[in-house]
Amino acid sequence: MRPMLWENRRLKLINQLLLPNKEEWIEYSDYEDVALAIKNMIVRGAPAIGATAAFGLALAALKYRNLEKDEFLEKIDNAAKILANTRPTAVNLFWAIQRMRNLLELNKDNFTVPELVEKIVREAETIAEDDVQINKKMGAYGATLIPEGAQIYTHCNAGALATVDYGTALGVIRSAHEQNKNIHVYAGETRPYLQGSRLTTFELMKDNIPVTLVTDNMAGFLMKQGKVHCVIVGADRVAANGDVANKIGTYSLSVLAKEHNIPFYVAAPISTIDLQIDSGDEIEIEERGTEEVIKVYDTFIAPKDAVAYHPAFDVTPHQNITAIITEKGIIHKPSKETMSSFF
Ligand code: MRU
Repeated sequence: MRPMLWENRRLKLINQLLLPNKEEWIEYSDYEDVALAIKNMIVRGAPAIGATAAFGLALAALKYRNLEKDEFLEKIDNAAKILANTRPTAVNLFWAIQRMRNLLELNKDNFTVPELVEKIVREAETIAEDDVQINKKMGAYGATLIPEGAQIYTHCNAGALATVDYGTALGVIRSAHEQNKNIHVYAGETRPYLQGSRLTTFELMKDNIPVTLVTDNMAGFLMKQGKVHCVIVGADRVAANGDVANKIGTYSLSVLAKEHNIPFYVAAPISTIDLQIDSGDEIEIEERGTEEVIKVYDTFIAPKDAVAYHPAFDVTPHQNITAIITEKGIIHKPSKETMSSFF
């Protein structure tokens, strides 16, 4: 269920706007088109957009491989800015771009342009390969928290489609399923973009992991009925105090989970943790177009001129989070103190 392929030095992305109705792959050879694909959410999910941006820079390097070094470096710098200026909330995007910038900075004086191009391509491939291993490690740690027969609520899509493969929150679910823990998943549909119904339900069904789709406003009643044993979500950015930005609706779920004494877990690779910011208040929340709220595909579900509001993410305070699962281990009761002793 990989959302991206790097083949013959071209990037292929599955068009997530069309899933689950159509599995269409789009081939990219220009970084500017890759930037548009991130912005328009043909590819989405924090680790996935990070790896995609890295491949975007690899395409830029290949495009400018015949330039003199100064000009080459200038073009790559510009490509990095264009790729960074696509979506503001998920830090993995900036993390991957910075990693490529660091590589160039370290090597630019000692290598020729063709050698630098090869290094950039290799670094993008490494970012992608590492992501899969990181998710598997996170999955293994996370599965230790999942009891036999657990009924797990998840939100948005933090699966293979949101990463290079395997997923973060769905990586934990996959790992528990592989251990025959007899789990069952409730996938919240995740208005307005429907990542839960279109992507998570599709992805889990493909892997034969038992899943029941619910609309977002059913979560509280399910919890009250005792049908949810834990909640697991992914993250777009984690602050130094453990506050978590994730898909809009995550905060409400955390409040409901707290009210019902249900553990609330976040699965996030270290690349999603932004130690530069003290708390979630500093995280920029992307606002997307209101047409995504008043329309589903091409059909209006509200008056055409309705006023709508569309913050794409929200921030869950660390007090509402039972644990953050990373590839290096589990941070229980995340807070400024537990986070800093973990790091
Ligand atoms: O707007 P999206 O679809 O890019 O938002 C994705 C999410 O919020 C995911 O939950 C998050 O990136 C975790 S991904 C493994």
